[in-house]
Amino acid sequence: MSNVVNSEKIPNNVDLSADKKLQRALEAWQPKFVDWWKEMGPEGFQADDVYLRTAVSVDSDGWAQYDFVKMPDYRWGIFLADPVADRTIGFGDFYGQPAWQTIPGEFRNALRRLVVTQGDTEPASVEQQRLLGQCCPSVYDLRNLFQVNVEEGRHLWAMVYLLQSYFGRDGREEAEGLLERRSGNADKPRILGAFNEPCAHWLSFFCFTYFTDRDGKFQLLALAESGFDPLARTTRFMLTEEAHHMFVGETGLTRVIERSLELMKKNSNEDARAEGGIDLATIQRYVNFWYSVSLDLFGGEISSNAASYFASGLKGRAKEDKYEDHVALTGFHAIDVPVVEGGVLKSLKSEEVPLRNAMNEVLRDEYVIDSQRGVDKWNKLIEKAGVPFRITLPSRRFHRQSGIYAGLHFDPAGNPISKEEFETKKFEWIPSPADDEFVKSLMSKPIYDPKGMANWIAAPPRGIKGQPVDFEYVRH
Ligand SMILES: [Fe+2]
Ligand SMILES: [Fe+2]
Repeated sequence: MSNVVNSEKIPNNVDLSADKKLQRALEAWQPKFVDWWKEMGPEGFQADDVYLRTAVSVDSDGWAQYDFVKMPDYRWGIFLADPVADRTIGFGDFYGQPAWQTIPGEFRNALRRLVVTQGDTEPASVEQQRLLGQCCPSVYDLRNLFQVNVEEGRHLWAMVYLLQSYFGRDGREEAEGLLERRSGNADKPRILGAFNEPCAHWLSFFCFTYFTDRDGKFQLLALAESGFDPLARTTRFMLTEEAHHMFVGETGLTRVIERSLELMKKNSNEDARAEGGIDLATIQRYVNFWYSVSLDLFGGEISSNAASYFASGLKGRAKEDKYEDHVALTGFHAIDVPVVEGGVLKSLKSEEVPLRNAMNEVLRDEYVIDSQRGVDKWNKLIEKAGVPFRITLPSRRFHRQSGIYAGLHFDPAGNPISKEEFETKKFEWIPSPADDEFVKSLMSKPIYDPKGMANWIAAPPRGIKGQPVDFEYVRH
């Protein structure tokens, strides 16, 4: 097991004090990060004691510590999963060769782009969520929000460590840039679309942590296969924290649906909205929205970039081990390609795309399957309540802003429709400004009493780390 040092300014298991130059660079970046946190992190809670878990090692049976901490004092550390002895590259043109401990010069730019793009999503999500504490449904949820936020902060540290250690001056500049872009800012937006979308209330937050953090899971799984060993090791450990973010999303949506079903029973018209809850059709619209913007994050269906990332051993497939052919030079992947004539979508044609060029789609396939799991659980709950409604994931062609379906129009089932039809029906499918207003109105009064729970959500079955649900997780 690697040695953990928690007494230094920056907790780490990378023997930071042995590399003075790097240590100085990171210690110079640290106050800038804390300034960013104070400006763009959770607004109104920086002085509160919060019951948080902090990563203190990568030991699988005791990697985290739980205690009260003020968020600006959180110990953001650098932790890489333990090295695998004699690890070799698991895919692509360098399959079977020793994994790289330094960056091969010819792949420097591509790798930097991958690290920066991943790194940019981490602070972006904190920015998107910074006002949610002010409309929280309970102190339990408030704490979970902050847990997700501080860990996204640590993920930023993970990427900045790579930039500062391996990319010299450009890496240092990129590390500054990560603190300068702002989610949703027209002049200096975050890199990827979904990370510029407003996350104005908790229904969006739960959809975000279910769908968008799950994109994160799959990107991290693909990077965990990287031939560049430090990237593989750092992302492997990030996945440990990421699991909790998706737990927050999945259980959050489960509790909203549970409550919705209870409120429907109370109302003679089965109208959850009339009882101050969120009706299932509205939940469906938010699912449609966040799922579709998260699908975009996987990149183009047919992509020469994806092919070259795979060829050069930089980014593999999730759990590359489970595939038989790790070179992927001979296979194909069927993709429904739009046939457009004179600017009008005529039909879809199944095309056999060389496998390497379809790697984004291969990863998206895994994501679709994984996303469906929670949906199935929600539908069981709904079925058990005797309600005929079912939550569905829309077609991957629906409401796409990038890739081969962008600029075209499809209904949620994936059937091509005209722009006019889409415009007429879109607010049956994605949230309208009125939906946003309605959902926000339910959350206008935050619940800061540990015994309280907002009317629109069911209480969780249990608290955090053996504490009761009504424990004072945040001393506000
Ligand atoms: Fe993250
Ligand atoms: Fe996350």
